[in-house]
Amino acid sequence: MSQSTTPTRPLEGKVVVVTGGNSGIGEGIVREAAAQGAKVVIDWVSNEEATDRIVADVTAAGGQAIGFRADVSKVAELQALADAAVEAYGRIDVWVSNAGVEFHQTLETLTEDRYDLLMDINLKGAVFGAKVAAAQMEKQGDGGVIVNITSTHEDWPMPSDLAYCISKGGMRMLTRTAGVELGAKGIRVVGVGPGAIDTPINADDDESAKDALRQAIPLGYIGSPLDMGKLVCFVASDAASYVTATTIMADGGLMQKPGAV
Ligand SMILES: NC(=O)c1ccc[n+]([C@@H]2O[C@H](COP(=O)([O-])OP(=O)(O)OC[C@H]3O[C@@H](n4cnc5c(N)ncnc54)[C@H](O)[C@@H]3O)[C@@H](O)[C@H]2O)c1
Repeated sequence: MSQSTTPTRPLEGKVVVVTGGNSGIGEGIVREAAAQGAKVVIDWVSNEEATDRIVADVTAAGGQAIGFRADVSKVAELQALADAAVEAYGRIDVWVSNAGVEFHQTLETLTEDRYDLLMDINLKGAVFGAKVAAAQMEKQGDGGVIVNITSTHEDWPMPSDLAYCISKGGMRMLTRTAGVELGAKGIRVVGVGPGAIDTPINADDDESAKDALRQAIPLGYIGSPLDMGKLVCFVASDAASYVTATTIMADGGLMQKPGAV
């Protein structure tokens, strides 16, 4: 057997774009990618100070990152984000569609405006993000990786969150279909499906709900943005070169525990 060729900084020199990269899981991905040698473009829509703080931390540690404001629900802004990455760093190697929202509405309470907004951000943003990223990668001619941050709920119904589940189910099929379409061009499309992760999206959960969740998770704890950052960087690296058109679930075993939620 030949010796391992896994580099110590697997994303050295790669250009990585992360949508919604200034908070929660996106921030975990940005910080880990920069630590692994990537040049990172942090897409953001609110809280510019958080973006500036992350850029300052990455730069102070000897890494490279810039912030760029783009609303992923608008295709023109996604194109502007891709153009900004190319202008700053010359190319795009990895595009992570991470931006997402959750409104906790059932079929009964769901309204048209909330549905449209959620779908535009979570699903349309990922579809057209993949489109602009793939077009740039094709131009470069040497492949690339598109990572969709989905959820256990791409597969698993959450009765209080209908539109969110539909959007993540759509991302599941985006991952599979685009992965098949782009395979011959060396562009991999991979979903990462987080379980319960400690981020601002869950800020309203009370402590008793969090305790019940911890008990339902076979690994016994709620995941961190860094847990997700490490997995996304693995998926984006050459170590995952044969993985495409599928989702890797990262839920501490939650989905497999009978009656967990
Ligand atoms: N935290 C969890 O338990 C969990 C579980 C499964 C999946 N996820 C997914 O992980 C992703 C990140 O969520 P998080 O938990 O870090 O929450 P978060 O609220 O911390 O991050 C969401 C990010 O998306 C950004 N965003 C929202 N609308 C946007 C828009 N129109 N354009 C660009 N950016 C926009 C926000 O500003 C923020 O930076 C989401 O797609 C979410 O569905 C989270």
